[in-house]
Amino acid sequence: MTELAHDETILIVDFGSQVTQLIARRVREAGVYCEIAPFTMAEAAFERLQPKGIILSGSPRGVPEPDSPRAPDIVFESGLPILGICYGQQVMTHQLGGTVETGHGTAEGGEFGRAFLTVTKACALFDGMWEVGERHQVWMSHGDKVTKFADGFDIVATSDGAPFAVIADEKRAYYGTQFHPEVVHTPDGARLISNFVRHICGCSGEWTMGAYRDAQIKAIREQVGDGKVICGLSGGVDSAVAAVLIHEAIGDQLTCVFVDHGLMRMAEAEQVVGLFRGHYNIPLVHVDAEDLFLSGLAGLDDPEMKRKFIGKTFIEVFEEEAGNIGGADFLAQGTLYPDVIESVSFTGGPSVTIKSHHNVGGLPERMNMELVEPLRELFKDEVRELGRELGLPDAFVGRHPFPGPGLAIRIPGEVTKEKCDILRKADAIYLEEIRNAGLYDAIWQAFAVLLPVRTVGVMGDARTYDSVCGLRAVTSVDGMTADVYPFESAFLQNVATRIINEVKGINRVVYDYTSKPPGTIEWE
Ligand code: XMP
Repeated sequence: MTELAHDETILIVDFGSQVTQLIARRVREAGVYCEIAPFTMAEAAFERLQPKGIILSGSPRGVPEPDSPRAPDIVFESGLPILGICYGQQVMTHQLGGTVETGHGTAEGGEFGRAFLTVTKACALFDGMWEVGERHQVWMSHGDKVTKFADGFDIVATSDGAPFAVIADEKRAYYGTQFHPEVVHTPDGARLISNFVRHICGCSGEWTMGAYRDAQIKAIREQVGDGKVICGLSGGVDSAVAAVLIHEAIGDQLTCVFVDHGLMRMAEAEQVVGLFRGHYNIPLVHVDAEDLFLSGLAGLDDPEMKRKFIGKTFIEVFEEEAGNIGGADFLAQGTLYPDVIESVSFTGGPSVTIKSHHNVGGLPERMNMELVEPLRELFKDEVRELGRELGLPDAFVGRHPFPGPGLAIRIPGEVTKEKCDILRKADAIYLEEIRNAGLYDAIWQAFAVLLPVRTVGVMGDARTYDSVCGLRAVTSVDGMTADVYPFESAFLQNVATRIINEVKGINRVVYDYTSKPPGTIEWE
């Protein structure tokens, strides 16, 4: 793993709020690097990061509850500025000697949703944005509230439900907000967080993608020395950005391997090969393994069996190719920050496996190589920004996510080459229409699905008996939950007409209205 020296870091102590990641997003948007650490590991993170300020997150728990989480003492002993958000405000108050009472179930207790606060006193958090006497919209979501603040604090803003909407001890640079500045429903929240990290903690705000790229190039060179690196390309944005960055750092010490399983979308394999070999001149081994994958998929109709076969075969092919190029010392991966954050879960219990995910995740243990993961500190949209910084075309960087097992999980039941070809055509028409309508960037993921169902239709004067194509489009922030994209019906009718007219083998088109949960985004 590459370690980066970030001179100016903010530590976010996570108490398990649903929106802790948004705090990190806002801090980084202010040009300041930050990391999230669960409260149980915050002390170690503090030692490692030597932060310039600390933010305490919200939590589904309540401070008055027995065994609810606390911040480690180092937070208050460090002498650093602190911003406590919601639970963070309450736990800070409690740990510094104030009182927090539960409001659950009482009429005057909790406050949820949009609220208005009134600024009662000037405060460094409000610099350049809020004046005394003004009212501002914020987003509240709390059951408990501070009823007596700790010594040294003043009220600087109040709301009807939270008399201590914002409290401040300017001498120690301790601040607490009862509302959530990190969510978009608090319109000035991003500026408030920027005020905290830049003006109050004194961070310069120079953490940009350009600076990140330069620092990573240095770190990759140091880690790799004159060793050889191998990188599996999936056709997705993350592995592509990682590969281009590593190539910039170490040139031809990097070899990319693109295992083409024949389950890619229309013209996708050609695009990847053209971009890497043609445009970037990166050594690329293109393995055409379509026959191997499709022959192994023959007769498999169980979704998990299909996923497991594809994952296992991918690893075998990748290993063989790594051997063919004479082996490598390092394996590069496009692991992102959300995959490495150990967020606190208060739901308890082991999570059930909904789907066996296939990416290159199984490789490191098998191949006994050290990992190079230059994106492990970035969020998805930051990776896109870095991709642009590295000169990757916008159309490539902005692509919708595409799953490792490819079209196989969009063809419920047995996968055949014929079905893949039909689906590729329908999918290409759907995406072309979405792009033409200017909707591509408003959608998280859109794709066609080929159903294992045949229905009767009539074309010209003849009877048809062909397959049904499903269309899916969702909006999402992270793929964990998703809403259906509400197309105009004229748009869908046009896509349906084109698919039925232009794709032989499909005579009916349906639109999938299932959100996630209860559905998943992919069909298998
Ligand atoms: P689901 O279908 O679980 O998908 O709602 C959530 C997101 O994950 C993608 N996905 C995968 N990505 N390997 C991947 O790299 C996989 O095996 C895989 N399965 C699903 C899916 O496209 C969506 O963005």
